Amino acid sequence: MNGEGRLTFALAKGRLAEKAVELLERAGIDCRALRDQGRRLVFEDERGETAFMLVKPADVATYVDHGVADLGIAGKDSLMEENRPLYEMLDLGFGRCRLALAGYPGTSLAGRHVRVATKYPFIAQELFSKRGCTYEIIRLNGSVELGPIVGLSDVILDIVESGATLKANGLAVLEEICPVSARLVVNRVSLKTKAARIRPLIERLGGILGEGRQ
Ligand code: PRP
Repeated sequence: MNGEGRLTFALAKGRLAEKAVELLERAGIDCRALRDQGRRLVFEDERGETAFMLVKPADVATYVDHGVADLGIAGKDSLMEENRPLYEMLDLGFGRCRLALAGYPGTSLAGRHVRVATKYPFIAQELFSKRGCTYEIIRLNGSVELGPIVGLSDVILDIVESGATLKANGLAVLEEICPVSARLVVNRVSLKTKAARIRPLIERLGGILGEGRQ
């Protein structure tokens, strides 16, 4: 199959990957190549109809925006942080968590300079720039909960799933910002040039998700 017919997916490695593959298989995409991963990063099905790239969650939007992937599956948190002009076509319903401000219980953000540790500096900037307080955003790449514990920050902006990490560190949600779940995003050009394959796929996925909600 030539390049025009082939669909390329950028899938977030890690906690979303298994559910993403499961869902694509249910929608008729041959994902067998992905099952035997090893250290490979690019996979193609036997008929050359579909290719997959496994990438860091934060990079999914970049691959799709540049058109090297036609479609991507990533968490809403990563997509908001990247803020790229993609079509977000479906809420896939898995990977549910929420983006929240957290800190020691009772921490007040009113009338003070707020130091925010986060993996999401862009979202934090958007959030705090509208609040009329002074703030400093401290970018971390993981274990963000350490921020308030070691006095690096007053609060964190992070995803909370079970709440176990906050609890284990004596922290609590101070403010819920928005719900998060896995989304299907599509490159804007691909949606037109590969409509014959992408549109039916989105319909099939929508049908499967609808069944799950009944
Ligand atoms: C995420 C997030 C929290 C934790 C929340 O981190 O940053 O630390 O999961 O989950 P919970 O509410 O169920 O405890 P991740 O596991 O991705 O690791 P990281 O800290 O290295 O980013």
